[in-house]
Amino acid sequence: MGVPQLNAIPTNHQQLIKWIGDWAALLKPEGIYWCDGSKEEYDRLTRELIDTGLATELNKEKRPDSVLFRSDPSDVARVENNTYIASPTQEQAGPTNNWIDPTELKQTMRALYDGAMAGRTMYVIPFSMGPVGSPIAKIGVEITDSAYVVINMHIMTRVGTAVLDALGANGVYIPTVHSVGSPLAAGQADNGKWPCAPLDKKYISHFPETREIWSYGSGYGGNALLGKKCLALRIASVLARDEGWLAEHMLILKITSPEGQVRYIAGAFPSACGKTNLAMLIPTVPGWKVETVGDDIAWMKFGPDGRLYAINPEAGFFGVAPGTSEASNPSAMRSVARDTIFTNVALTEDGDIWWEGIGYDPPGPLTDWHGSPWTADNDDKPAAHPNSRFTARAGNCPVIADEWEDPEGVPISAFLFGGRRPSTVPLVHQAFDWNHGVFLGSIVGSEVTAAALDLKAGTVRRDPFAMLPFCGYHMGDYFKHWVEIGAEGEADKMPKIFYVNWFRKSADGEWLWPGYGENSRVLKWVFERCEGHGKAEETAIGYMPPVEAIDRRGIEKSVSEQVMAELLSVDRDGWLGEVELIKEHFAKFGDRLPEVLREQLLALEKRLKES
Ligand code: OXD
Ligand code: MN
Repeated sequence: MGVPQLNAIPTNHQQLIKWIGDWAALLKPEGIYWCDGSKEEYDRLTRELIDTGLATELNKEKRPDSVLFRSDPSDVARVENNTYIASPTQEQAGPTNNWIDPTELKQTMRALYDGAMAGRTMYVIPFSMGPVGSPIAKIGVEITDSAYVVINMHIMTRVGTAVLDALGANGVYIPTVHSVGSPLAAGQADNGKWPCAPLDKKYISHFPETREIWSYGSGYGGNALLGKKCLALRIASVLARDEGWLAEHMLILKITSPEGQVRYIAGAFPSACGKTNLAMLIPTVPGWKVETVGDDIAWMKFGPDGRLYAINPEAGFFGVAPGTSEASNPSAMRSVARDTIFTNVALTEDGDIWWEGIGYDPPGPLTDWHGSPWTADNDDKPAAHPNSRFTARAGNCPVIADEWEDPEGVPISAFLFGGRRPSTVPLVHQAFDWNHGVFLGSIVGSEVTAAALDLKAGTVRRDPFAMLPFCGYHMGDYFKHWVEIGAEGEADKMPKIFYVNWFRKSADGEWLWPGYGENSRVLKWVFERCEGHGKAEETAIGYMPPVEAIDRRGIEKSVSEQVMAELLSVDRDGWLGEVELIKEHFAKFGDRLPEVLREQLLALEKRLKES
C-alpha cells in the first residue's frame, strides 16, 4: 500500500514524483502533502501548531500574526560537529570540514530514516532560492515532517506552485530531505513538546557530488531550513565553483550619496559580528542613505557588462534576537513588529516577546525560553536563549531596497571583510588589487577570549571569507576559485576589496570605535574610493585613509583625532606577529593553497620589514 496523498499532486515532473514516492516508502509518513506556499496554507499550519501546543500565539494588538516556539534544550543552534561534507574522498572535503564516506553515511542515515516519519505528515516544499525565474536563482525541493519548517520556509524562501511551474516537467532541482527524527507510535502525540533526536543522532549531511542534502534529528534553523546554509552556501559553493560564479556568506547593502549616486556593497563577516545590523544601518553622516538587499547570503554572477551582479537568494531574515533593539537596529525591530515567528525568546505576561538587550527592562515576570517562570533576579540565567531568533519577511523591513527582488541582481562595487579584532587590525584598509583582496578574505578571523573557548586568549579563530562552517569543498580550492574569478574579470570592473574592523579596543580595554550607525563614516570612504576620489595613503598592509579622510563631523568629541590616528595606524609589530599566525593558518591547506596567496603573505612580510 502506498502512502496516501493528502492533496492533489501539483506537478507532472515524473522524476520528482518518483523521488517523493521513493522517500515516502522509506520514511513511512501518514500522508504526503504538497505545499502551495499560500497565505491560507501558512495560516492553517500555524493554527494547527498553536492548537497542538507547540506554538504560542502572541498578543494580537502588540504583535499581530506572530507566534513563539520553544525548542528542546538540545536543539538550539546549528550543530557544526554533526555537519558533514560527504564528498567521494576526504581530500575533496578538505581540512576544515567533517567527512564521512558518502556510501557509509547514506547507509547509516537510511537506517535512521526508515519509519522516521511514522505518525506524521510528510510535507513537500518546492522552493526557489532567489526570485522565481531569475537567471541566478536555483530551485530546491525539501521533504520535511515539521510544520514549523514549512512556515519558516514560507518566510525565508519563495515556496509553491510558481516554483513548480518554473520547474516544468523536466527542470533541475536540488533534492533535500529533512526529518526531526522523532517517529510517533499509534495514538502518540508531541503534546506540545518540540520533536527532535538526541545530539548523537543528529546528522546534517551534504553530498556535493550528487548535490543532495540529508538532514536528520534537528528541527532548528540552519539544520532544518535546508534552503539557507545547506543549499545556498554549502551546495551552492560547489555549484558556483563548477559553473564560474560566487555563493558567499555576505550581506548586500545599497548606499546612496547625498548627490543621489548609488553603489552596492557586499560584506562577509563571521556569525555574530553584526551582519544584520550593518545591512540595515541608519547612517549618522548627514545626507547618506543605506538600504538592505540581503543580510546573510549573496549569489553573484558576471553580467553582460562584465560586472559582478548579486542577488539575495533568501526572502526573509533569520536573525539573532538578543541585542536587537531600537538603538542597535530599529529597522529589524520594525521588521519583527508583526507577522513574525519567534523561537526561544522570552514571553511577557501580556503575550509579547522580550530578550536580553532589547533596550528596556522586562515589563514584569516573564516566561523564559524553557517555558519556566523568570523574574529579573534570575539574571544569571538568560530569559531568552542567546541564539534565539526571529524569522521575519524581508518585505516587512522598512529599509528594504526597491530592487531587492530584481532577478538580474545588483552590480557590486565593493566587498568588505571583517571580524572581531580588538588589536592589530585597523578600522579600515583597502587591498592593493584583487589577489591581495583574496588574501585578506583568506585571513578573516575573530579573536577569542579564554572564557569563550578552550583556547589561549588572543588566539585568532580563522574563518576565511566567513565561510568556515559553510564551504562545501576544500577551502584551498575555494581560495583558488576566488583567484580565478578575479582573473576572469576585467580589473577595473571587479569590486574593490576592503578589510574593516569595528571592534578595535584601547590598551585598557575600551572600544575605540562606536560602531553601528557610525560605521556609515567608513562606508562613505569606501564609496568615495569606488568613485575614484577618496583620499588614501599606501602603507605596508594596503591603502588607508588619512585621519581627515574619514568624516568625523558630529563625533569629534567621542572619537578624537588622536583616537582616529590610533584606529588608522599600522601596528607593525602586531602585523609581524600576525604574519606568523597566518603562516600556521595557511599550513593547514598544504599544497592546495594557491601559490599567489603564499606570495601575498611573503610580500606583506617584506613590506612590513622594510617599513
Ligand atoms: C547565521 C549564521 O545564522 O551565520 O546566519 O550562523
Ligand atoms: Mn550567517
